[in-house]
This record gives sequence, structure tokens and C-alpha cells, in this order.
Amino acid sequence: MFNGNVIVGQSGGPTAVINSSLAGVYTAAKKAGAEKVYGMKYGIEGLIKNDIVDLDTKIKDPENLEILRRTPSSYLGSCRYRLPAEEVGKEIYEAIFANLAEHNITAMLYIGGNDSMDTIAKLHSYAAKIGSDIKFVGVPKSIDNDLPGTDHTPGFGSAAKYLGAVTKEIICDATVYDMKSVTVVEIMGRDAGWLTAATALSKGEDCDGPDMILLPERILDLDKLISKIELLQETKKSLTITVSEGVKVADGRYLCELAGDEKRKDAFGHHMLSGTAQFLADTINRRVGCKTRGVELNTPQRAAAHLLSKTDFDEAFMVGAVAAEAAIKGKTGEMAAFVREKDAAGNYKVDIKTVAISVVANKEQIVPNEYITAEGDNVTQAFINYARPLIEGYVEPIWKDGMPVVLKR
Ligand code: F6P
Repeated sequence: MFNGNVIVGQSGGPTAVINSSLAGVYTAAKKAGAEKVYGMKYGIEGLIKNDIVDLDTKIKDPENLEILRRTPSSYLGSCRYRLPAEEVGKEIYEAIFANLAEHNITAMLYIGGNDSMDTIAKLHSYAAKIGSDIKFVGVPKSIDNDLPGTDHTPGFGSAAKYLGAVTKEIICDATVYDMKSVTVVEIMGRDAGWLTAATALSKGEDCDGPDMILLPERILDLDKLISKIELLQETKKSLTITVSEGVKVADGRYLCELAGDEKRKDAFGHHMLSGTAQFLADTINRRVGCKTRGVELNTPQRAAAHLLSKTDFDEAFMVGAVAAEAAIKGKTGEMAAFVREKDAAGNYKVDIKTVAISVVANKEQIVPNEYITAEGDNVTQAFINYARPLIEGYVEPIWKDGMPVVLKR
């Protein structure tokens, strides 16, 4: 029987299934015999301030757990806080370990992306230094799908399903008039283009898919883009272009910075990106002279719990559970990760193992060359083959009064 309590936190940008991972951690920890499963409020910042919550007061019955799993955004609240190096922030580490001791916590799970795994790495190494037995394990999460060491990240599949579906709908709308037009759709993903690539999933017998897909993995040449639009419009009047918020031009500036926007940065030093679609739409309008529209999909792509991928939803739960089991069994300084396999019939199947946190922390997995066409403005069939299984299946929301129900914070 497990001796001690468990704490879990959520960090970084939210996803539509991050609470499914929270439910997975909670369920596995309870099953293993943890008397208490605590949640940090607003990630590690809550643990530093001892602002924590007993999850039994929130998850009161199996229905609550199912609603939690279908609730988008980080239920516990999130942060983008980077722990200082131990030498300069000793009192922060001391506060964290004092608060863990006060609540008899012997295992900590942190659900987050590459920056958040830095927290696991630092706490793991501080624990080793002071001879603490507390275990620290990461649970992967990112709509950006940019974590190394794992085949994909929970959150990506649902965001990809939403983006494929909404791109198809936008293309239906964009082709409504018998006149030349260009619709530009901006997608999140910072410096990795996985999500923008996922707009290609709209392509099928019923839809052409985007005419161009502009990824941050390729530098954008605006003159070439304008020439290609003019060429394509000789045979097709209405074009749709999907563009990553993180696309840069040759001088290293983000496209959205060309609009004259000052450089805004968040606590991680990341540029805060937006306005790319509108900038591109305005530029095309001026230079090509046709109707244009900029669509910035923004937060709905990571909060659209009404269109979850069942694969993603189930995997998010499982990876949380496996991470909790690993910590409870004594693993530390690791992150749970997906390994893609095939079943006997050759179909997609996934296994979950753990990888050293050093493989993941502060590192980024961008879209590889084999998934990008030679011209650099679309994706290959190999990408579609990779992404398609991740969007399979659908999760019915729990409805009340015609609206999906969420668990109130
Ligand atoms: O890291 C996930 C992500 O959604 C990125 O795709 C996006 O650029 C960023 O978060 C937005 O950050 P914030 O939540 O701080 O607005």
C-alpha cells in the first residue's frame, strides 16, 4: 500500500483534455491507496504559496469526474512561471519542500509542456541534493505537439480535430462568391507548425483543403507568396491559406511584427503572437487587389471540448494514470511518454513508458522535413498518416439546457 499523499499541478497553455490527465492522475493515485490527492492552484506558484486544494472536495462522485474530463482549460489554474536556479532562489525551494512535507506528500505530478518539465527537472535535482525521497514525474501536455521523447502530446489530437473541421467549414464559406478572394487562417503553435499542418486533415473527397500551409519551420518570402497566389488564381478564384502565428521572414522577425507591433513577451521570454492572419490578409489585399479576410482562431482551438478526439481524450487520461503509478512505484525525474505501435491488424496503437526528464525539459520538437513538401508550403501524405489516428473518435459532451456542462472552478 502506498504511503503518503500525492500532489498534482497544471502548467503552461491549457488544452481541451488537460483535465482528462488530471482525472487520470487522481484516479490512479486513489487506486494506489493515496489518502489525499492535492491540487496546486495556478501550478507551482500555488505550491510555493501553499495554496493547494484537496481534490476530494471537488471530485465528489463519478459524474463529477466525467464532467471534469470534458472541461477544457486547466481546472486547477495554470502559470507560466520558471523556477529560478537553486543558487539564486533557495528560499523558493525551501518553501516548496516545506509545503510538501506539511501535507505528507511523497509524489508530485506536473502536467505541462517543455517549459513546465524544467520545473520537474529542477525539483528532482534539488530533492537528490537534499536527500529527499519525494518523487517528481511529468505528464506531457501541449496543443503544440512540440515535446521530444514522445510520439505526440495529449491536447494535440483534439486541437487538430477541431482545426481540421473548422478549416473545412471556413473553406465552404470562403468559396461562396464567384470572385477572387484569399482567406488567411492563423493557427497557434508558436515555433512548431504541427497544429497548422493539421489543417490539412480537412482535405478529402468533399474538400480541397488549404491551398497553402505556411509553417514556422520555413522562412516566408512574401514576394514568392504573392506570385504563387496570382498563379493559383488563374485557375481557382477563392484560395484559403493557413498560417502559423510563428512564421518568420528572412530578417528573423515574426510576420506579425511586420505590422509594426511592438515586441511583447511573456514570463518565459516568449513573444506573444497574434495578428499574423490580418497582416497577411491586408498585404495580399494591397498587392494582389482581391477580397481578403483574416481569421485568427485563437483560444477556441485549445478549448473546443465539444469536438474532442476520443483517442486524445482516452490517451490523456491513461498518460496521467501511468505517470502517477510510476511516481508511486518510485520513479522520479521522468516524464510519461507515448510510443507508437501497431496492433496485429497493422492499426494504430500506443504504449506508454517513461523517459528521462532531461530529454524533454526546455527542448522543442519541430515538424520534420519529411512532413513538409519540397516547395515548403504544404504537408506530405506522411504527415497525414502520422496525424490521422490521433483525431479518431468523438466524445459526446454531457448536455444540460442545450449546452455542454463543465465543472465550475
Ligand atoms: O504553448 C501553447 C500555446 O497555446 C501556444 O500555441 C501559444 O502561442 C501560447 O500557448 C499562447 O500563450 P498564452 O496562453 O500565454 O496566451
